Amino acid sequence: MCGIVGFVGREEAAPILLDGLSRLEYRGYDSAGIAVYNREKGLQVEKAKGRLQVLCDLVQGGSTVHGTLGLGHTRWATHGEPSDVNSHPQVSQGGRFAVVHNGIIENYVALREFLQSEGIRFASQTDTEVVAQLLEYYYDGDLLEAVVKTLSRIQGAYALGILCADCPDRLIAVRKDSPLILGFGQGAHFLASDVTALIKYTREVCYLDDGEIAELTPDHLWVYDSYLRPVEKEHHHVDWEISAAEKGGYEHFMAKEIMEQPEAIRKTISPRIQDGRVVLDDLALTARDVAEMDKLCVIACGSSYHVGMNAKYILEKLLRKPVEVTLASEFRYCDPIVTEHTLALVISQSGETIDTLAAMREAKRLGAKVLSIVNVVGSTIARESDGVLYTWAGPEIAVATTKAYSTQLAVIYLIGLYCAQLLGSIPQDEYDGILSELQAIPDKMEEILENRSDIQYFASIYFNHPSMFFIGRNLDYAVGLEGSLKLKEISYIHSEAYAAGELKHGTISLIEPGTLVVALAGYGALFEKTMSNVVEVKSRGADVLGLTTHSRAAEMAKTADHVISVPDTHPLLLPSLEVVPMQLLAYYVALQRGCDIDKPRNLAKSVTVE
Ligand code: F6R
Repeated sequence: MCGIVGFVGREEAAPILLDGLSRLEYRGYDSAGIAVYNREKGLQVEKAKGRLQVLCDLVQGGSTVHGTLGLGHTRWATHGEPSDVNSHPQVSQGGRFAVVHNGIIENYVALREFLQSEGIRFASQTDTEVVAQLLEYYYDGDLLEAVVKTLSRIQGAYALGILCADCPDRLIAVRKDSPLILGFGQGAHFLASDVTALIKYTREVCYLDDGEIAELTPDHLWVYDSYLRPVEKEHHHVDWEISAAEKGGYEHFMAKEIMEQPEAIRKTISPRIQDGRVVLDDLALTARDVAEMDKLCVIACGSSYHVGMNAKYILEKLLRKPVEVTLASEFRYCDPIVTEHTLALVISQSGETIDTLAAMREAKRLGAKVLSIVNVVGSTIARESDGVLYTWAGPEIAVATTKAYSTQLAVIYLIGLYCAQLLGSIPQDEYDGILSELQAIPDKMEEILENRSDIQYFASIYFNHPSMFFIGRNLDYAVGLEGSLKLKEISYIHSEAYAAGELKHGTISLIEPGTLVVALAGYGALFEKTMSNVVEVKSRGADVLGLTTHSRAAEMAKTADHVISVPDTHPLLLPSLEVVPMQLLAYYVALQRGCDIDKPRNLAKSVTVE
C-alpha cells in the first residue's frame, strides 16, 4: 500500500525522503514522488512511474532538489492507473498545496464535480487530488482552518501529509483509518506510514489517532483534535535495530526472515513461560472470563487467517470450546453471532489491515471482548483491542509473511495452554508435554533449516509445473492452505489447497499425468487416510511430493515420488514445523523462476484499503 514520509528540519530534505521511501518499498508500490519547498524556487515536485530508482535518477539522488522541508510518497494505484501524473504528491491548481495520501477518498467523485463546477481544473484521475484542490479552495490565509474545512468534506480512509507553500516552515499530518507515525529528531520532525522509514533518524515516536491533526516544524510538534483543541500524545521508544530492517547478507528479505524464525519464536515464547507454566500478564482474561466464554471468533486475512485455521483445530482440542474462523472481509457483512461472552481473537502482523480493523470494531460493537495478536507495536489494532499479545518478531519486510505467521502460531499455543490451565480442560501431563514440545520447536526448526538444500533440490525439479495442489487433513490441511498461498503469491504458479477428503467431490477431475500434488501427512492419527488420497492421485498420474515426520517418512516414500520430513513432535505442534518446508519450497520455486520475491506483483505488505 502507499507509503508516506515527511521531513521538516535544517538539513536537506530530499535525501532523507528518498532514503525513507526506499525503506517503505516493501509495502508495494508502482510509482513514487517527492515535494520539497525551496525559498527561491518555491514548491518543487518530482514524480515518476516505476521503481523508486527512476525517481532517484530523475533527481540525481536528491542533489537537484534543495530545501529543508518536504514530503515523499510511494503509490499503490487505486484510483487512476500508475502514471507520472497520477503519482503523489498531488498539487492544487494554484500550486500552493502538495498532498500525499494513503487510503481512499470515497466521495471523491461528488467533490470533484463540485470543484469543477467552481471552475477548478483537475490534472490527474486520482481521488487524492480533490484533497489538494479543496485545501486551496478553502485557504484564506489560515492553514489549519483550511485543513479542518477540507476534512469536514472528505469521507473514507486517509493518512495525509500536507505542505503549503505559504507556510514553508511546517508540515501538516492527518489520519483517519490509515496509519501515520510522527518522529522526534534533533531540530527536526518526521512523519511516516511506518516506523521502518524513521528508525535511521529517530527512535522517539508517537502514533497519530483517528481524527487528529499534527503540525510539525523543526522545533515543535503540536497535535490537535478535530476541533483544533491541543492533545497530549504519549511518546514511545522503538527498540528495533536498524539491521533488523536490512537484508544482512541474504539475497532476499524473505530468506532472511525464514531463517530468523527459530530466534523469533524464542523471543515470542521465552518471556511468557515461567516455572513450567504459561504466564500471560499482558492478557486481560480472568478464569471466569474463560469459563463463561461461549465461543472464540478468529478474525483475520490471508496468512493470518491461515493461522486462524490452525487455531480452530488447536484451541478446540485444548479448550473444548467452539472456534469460528472468519475472513475479516466477510465478518462485517455476515451478521455475525457475537455475545458479551464471545472472545474475538484478531490476528494481524501489521495491525493495520483495514478489513481486520473494521471487523474488530464490529465485534467490539456487538459486545465481544477483543484480544489481538499483532506484530507491529503501537499499530491501530493493537491500540484498539481490549488486550494485545505482541509476537515480537521484529520488522517483517518481505511481502510474503513467514516469521510473523510462525510467531502468531506460537502465540496461539500460548493462549491455548494458558486458557486450558484456567479451565482445567487438559490433564497436567498433557499440558507439560505440549509446553516442553513448544520450547523445543525452535531447535527442531533449525534442523529443518539446516537441511534446506533438499527442498531447493525438489524446487529445481518442480518449478516449471503450471499448477500445484496441496492436500492434507486436519492441521495438515491448515498448513496446506498456507503452503499454497506462499507458492502462488511469490511464484505466480496456480495452486489450490484442499482438505484431502474433499478431492473426490470435484477437484480430482483436475488431476492428470504430471500434475504436482504436495501431500501433507504429518498428523499421525490421519496418516493412513491421507495416504489413501495419495494413492488416488498417484493412480491418476500425479507427481507426489510428500511431507511427513521422520518416523513416517519411509512409509510415505513407498507411495510418494519424493518425501520431505520434519522432526516428530506433539501432533498439535506440527504446523510450526511443517510450514517451514512449505515456505522454503515457495521461496526456491520463485527463485528458480526469477520472480521478484520480496515484492511480488500487485501485492502490498499492509493492506490499508478495503
Ligand atoms: C501473505 C500475507 C498476507 C497477510 C494479510 C494479512 O503472505 O502476508 O496474506 O497475511 O494481508 O496481513 P496482516 O497480518 O498484516 O493483517
